[in-house]
Amino acid sequence: MRTPIIAGNWKLNNNQEQAGDLAQQIVEAAREVPEVEVVLCPVYTALETVRRVVEHSPVKLGAQDMFWEESGAFTGEVSAPLLKDAGCSLVIIGHSERRQFFHETNETVNRKVKAALAAGLIPIMCVGETLPEREAGKVEAVVSEHMLNGLAGLSSGEISKVVIAYEPVWAIGTGKNATPDQAQEVHQLIRKLLAKVSGPETAEKVRIQYGGSVKPDNIKTLMAQPDIDGALVGGASLKAETFIPLVKFKG
Ligand code: PGA
Repeated sequence: MRTPIIAGNWKLNNNQEQAGDLAQQIVEAAREVPEVEVVLCPVYTALETVRRVVEHSPVKLGAQDMFWEESGAFTGEVSAPLLKDAGCSLVIIGHSERRQFFHETNETVNRKVKAALAAGLIPIMCVGETLPEREAGKVEAVVSEHMLNGLAGLSSGEISKVVIAYEPVWAIGTGKNATPDQAQEVHQLIRKLLAKVSGPETAEKVRIQYGGSVKPDNIKTLMAQPDIDGALVGGASLKAETFIPLVKFKG
C-alpha cells in the first residue's frame, strides 16, 4: 500500500509569522491522521520558522526548488545539502511555474532530481501538459518526455523514492481541475512509464500526486482513483480552513 501524501506548495506567499501560524494549525490536524503523510513547502526564508513548528510532529518540511551544484559561485542559489541541513525532507522539482518563468527544462530537472537524491532528499518531480498541448492531443507525448528525461540515468532503487506530481498546467490556479477520470488516465500512463524504466515492482511503489485546483470539494473523488496517491496543493494550502479538509480527506 502506498502512503497518501498531501503537500502544500505555498509558492511565494506567507511571511514568517503567517507561515508559523498556518503550520501550527496543520500540525494539529495532521496528528489526527497518522496514516497520511503531510508536507509543507514554504518560501526559503520561512523554512526555519516552519521547521521549529513541525519538529517532533508528523508533518514534513519541503522546499520549492533547489540548484544541482552543492556549493560555489552560484549567486542566489540554494543546494540540496543545504536544504537537508535546514531540515527539509523533500523538495519540489520542475514545477510548471519554474518551467514557464525560470527556463527549467527536462535536463535541468534531471540534474536536480539526481542531486536531491544524492543528498537524501525526496524529490517531488512535477510533470504535465499545457492547454494547447492537450488540445493538440499531445498529453501522452509531453508527459512521457517529462517522465523519461526527468528520470534518465536513475536506478530502480532511486526511482522508488521519487514522488511524481501530475499537474496539468491548465488546471493550476485556474479553478478548473482535471476530472478524476482525466487525471486517472494520465496517472495510469505515468505508472506504465515507471514500469518501463524501473520495472513493475518499483512502479507499484512510487506515489503519484495530482495537482491543479485541488479543493475540499474535489479531493475525495480524486483520491478514490486507483493511481492517485496524493495531492500537490497551491491555493487551497494557504488557509487552514481549506487545507485541513484535504489532509483529512478520508474523514
Ligand atoms: P493550485 O496549484 O492548487 O493553486 O492549482 C497547484 C500547484 O501549482 O502545485
